[in-house]
Formats: sequence, structure tokens, C-alpha cells
Amino acid sequence: MKYKLRQPVLSDKQEFLAFISEWGDEKLIIPAAVQLKGRSYEQFISELPLREKGLIDMDKLVPDNTYILVDKKNHIYGALNFRHTLNDYLMQFGGHVGYGIRPSERGKGFGNMILKEGLEIAKKFGLDKVLITCDEQNIPSARVIQGNGGKFENKVYKNDGWIHRYWVNLK
Ligand SMILES: CC(C)(COP(=O)(O)OP(=O)(O)OC[C@H]1O[C@@H](n2cnc3c(N)ncnc32)[C@H](O)[C@@H]1OP(=O)(O)O)[C@@H](O)C(=O)NCCC(=O)NCCS
Repeated sequence: MKYKLRQPVLSDKQEFLAFISEWGDEKLIIPAAVQLKGRSYEQFISELPLREKGLIDMDKLVPDNTYILVDKKNHIYGALNFRHTLNDYLMQFGGHVGYGIRPSERGKGFGNMILKEGLEIAKKFGLDKVLITCDEQNIPSARVIQGNGGKFENKVYKNDGWIHRYWVNLK
């Protein structure tokens, strides 16, 4: 396959930093788990297995996995974070999956692709259904969710806007 979703490794450093910096002012809507937030890339990578086992910041975080969508040359198109379970916050606002495509690669089908691959991962984790949310104004994300089988459940208000909640049935 030309593209695949895989976990980032140390040798992705240069490309990953370029990927992150391309978001510029949009940084806040990169999946939170992909933001370096002052950490080095090496630290970010070393924390991934701990996050997967639920050994980091368990007051706030559930176990999760982070993936990047790459081609054969390891060019990064997007990133996806998959939460194994839902806490109260995720059930209301965050959902099981967060994803983003770098600005220069949007509108080419990668959003649909990354979520499709993300749902395959959720299936392998044994989930029957997946909650995905997006801001009311985020039309491209709503299209991606609906295109992958998301059924609108409701909208909830958070801080300064409405969040739409969708479920995808995996059975
Ligand atoms: C949402 C996002 C992942 C979509 O990625 P993308 O690669 O542009 O999506 P695709 O090219 O696969 O297009 C998906 C759908 O959105 C539509 N779309 C894309 N850009 C659009 C735009 N600017 N306005 C309206 N529709 C748009 C496409 O036509 C397509 O619709 P279709 O499947 O019905 O044909 C991307 O815009 C992004 O990373 N945004 C910032 C982060 C974010 O919002 N993440 C989601 C959080 S819930």
C-alpha cells in the first residue's frame, strides 16, 4: 500500500518537526497528543509506550496510541490519536479519536483515509463503536466523520461553541 498509519519513531524526527511547524497558528487543533508542548522529540517518543500502558498522567489521560500517516518515503501527511476508552471529558467532548492533516496536504482525501485507518485500529482493539466529535463549524471534519459512517447523536456546548458528537458502529 502506498500510505500507512504507523507509530512514529526516532528516525522520523526531522520530518515530524517539519510537520508540526507547518501548522503555525493552527497548533491548537493538532491532536493534543501530537503537540510537543515543550518536550523534546526524543521525550515525546519515549512517552508513547507509557501512554499506551496508561502510566502517564492518569488523572487526566486514558491509555492511548499515536500514529502518523506516511508514504513510502516516510513523508508525514497527518496524525491520529486513538483513546482506548472514554473518561467523562472524552465522552462529552473529545471522543475516541483525534486527527489532523497538515495544511499543505488537505483536500486530497487524506482526512478520509486517516480516519478509515484509525477505525481499523479501533476494531483491532475490540471496540464495537467509536465516538468522534468535531466543532460545529468544522465542515471538513464533519464530512470525514459522516463519510466514515458517523451517525450524529447530539451537540454539546463547550466554552465558546458547540461540539457535534457522532458514533461509528464497527460491528
Ligand atoms: C478535518 C481534516 C482532517 C480534513 O482533512 P482533508 O485531508 O482536507 O479531508 P479530505 O480531503 O479527505 O476531505 C474530506 C471531506 O471534506 C471536504 N472538504 C475538504 N475541505 C473542505 C473545505 N474547506 N470546506 C468544505 N468541505 C471540505 C471534502 O470535499 C471531503 O468531502 P467528501 O468526503 O464528502 O467528498 C483537515 O481539514 C484538518 O486536519 N483540519 C484541522 C484539524 C482538525 O480539524 N481535525 C479534526 C478534529 S475533529
